[in-house]
Amino acid sequence: MSNDDVYAAGLLNRALDPATQPADVRAFLRAELELLRGRVRNGMRVLDVGCGTGRHLLLIGERLALGVGVDYERSYIAEAQLQAGDRPLHFITGDATLIPLATRFDLAVCLTNTWGTMSDKQGVLAEMARLAPQPGTRLISVYSTQSVSARREWYRRLGHTVTEETSEYLATNGGFRSEHFSEPRLRVLLGDCTITPLTDIAYAVTF
Ligand SMILES: C[S@@+](CC[C@H](N)C(=O)[O-])C[C@H]1O[C@@H](n2cnc3c(N)ncnc32)[C@H](O)[C@@H]1O
Repeated sequence: MSNDDVYAAGLLNRALDPATQPADVRAFLRAELELLRGRVRNGMRVLDVGCGTGRHLLLIGERLALGVGVDYERSYIAEAQLQAGDRPLHFITGDATLIPLATRFDLAVCLTNTWGTMSDKQGVLAEMARLAPQPGTRLISVYSTQSVSARREWYRRLGHTVTEETSEYLATNGGFRSEHFSEPRLRVLLGDCTITPLTDIAYAVTF
């Protein structure tokens, strides 16, 4: 199984259930929501790449002029669209490396280590930069190397035993592969960027 299969089998909804989350992971997810709330200004146009079931855009939707979420898992997009109500939010099925949009955004985000689960990392960064062309308006959050033990426990609770651990990723018997990053590695992958610790287990990176 690959990450696509694992997401199609509904991993995300179980992973977002706080009952499955170790305390460090819960703290990171909370800090990320605060970061996003603080970053968004009224009337912004925001793109969420790998939006899953849309929880980040749904959180800030009232304040936006436009929010668009993109995810390749059709069932997540359907769930997000159901929740959107009459807010200016749109959710589309598509690949993060070939986003079917030509409009411009004030902010592009790729949160909760979504970028760390994507295979073509440079392709995703290029799409974020194309759609949010102003430097400093692209935000990703990723796990740091300090996240390994919390994630091992989280995956165990989700029924995925870690079968491989390297300095760059964890892989599980359920077919899931999720990366973690040191600051030097982030600088190699992203070039000019600003890296800020986000709790003890993650970084917020703007570029
Ligand atoms: C870790 S989940 C996070 C979802 C959401 N950002 C959240 O925090 O709730 C990663 C998401 O990225 C999506 N995804 C992974 N690779 C993708 C790709 N190449 N194109 C579009 N979506 C992708 C998955 O379907 C999944 O919904």
